[in-house]
Amino acid sequence: MNWARWIWIPVLTLGLTACTGQASGSPMVSAPVTPYSTLDPAQVARGQQVYTQYCSSCHGVNAQGAPGWATPGPDGLYLPPAHDDSGHTWHHSDRVLYETVRDGMGDPLRPNSPLRMPAFADKLSDAEIRVAIEYLKSFWSDEHRQYQFDQTLKDFRPTPTPVP
Ligand code: HEC
Repeated sequence: MNWARWIWIPVLTLGLTACTGQASGSPMVSAPVTPYSTLDPAQVARGQQVYTQYCSSCHGVNAQGAPGWATPGPDGLYLPPAHDDSGHTWHHSDRVLYETVRDGMGDPLRPNSPLRMPAFADKLSDAEIRVAIEYLKSFWSDEHRQYQFDQTLKDFRPTPTPVP
């Protein structure tokens, strides 16, 4: 008789619901925080080389941004922003940062506007883009590193399973 196999499904589902209900119902349990991962000094050092060669002319040798970057120009556009704690780079997940460097950036309010930051897809390898981003993380406070790490976890997209 096949029903004997199916009867387990509602039993298992109820069991799972009970577990979840218990965890979220307890006032003592707060949302778990996954501590941000530590930086690999070798990657940071390689990232600094990439940054110095390809990024510092616009974003500043110490990632401090172009002078006056936080105030829009007469055209309403911003100069290359800081990447340290005073900027907003740390607001974005690893994926967003990676894609910004790979694809470049135009006016964020006008899709397909001319790129004000060049795309680096043809100049840098995947690994070079990633280490440059690791280097930027070395400028951030513990709090900002944790925030950016949480954004990265929330933005995680599993690789789709290829259709056979
Ligand atoms: C020719 C100048 C120029 C160069 C070179 C350049 N950028 Fe930019 N970058 C910009 C401008 C301009 C913006 C966007 C300003 C705006 O409109 O907000 C920007 C934005 C960014 C942002 C988005 C920041 C945010 O908070 O949204 C990241 C990340 C970034 N750059 C990283 C890099 C890295 C890494 C390199 C080197 C591989 C690099 N940039 C090289 C000019 C440059």
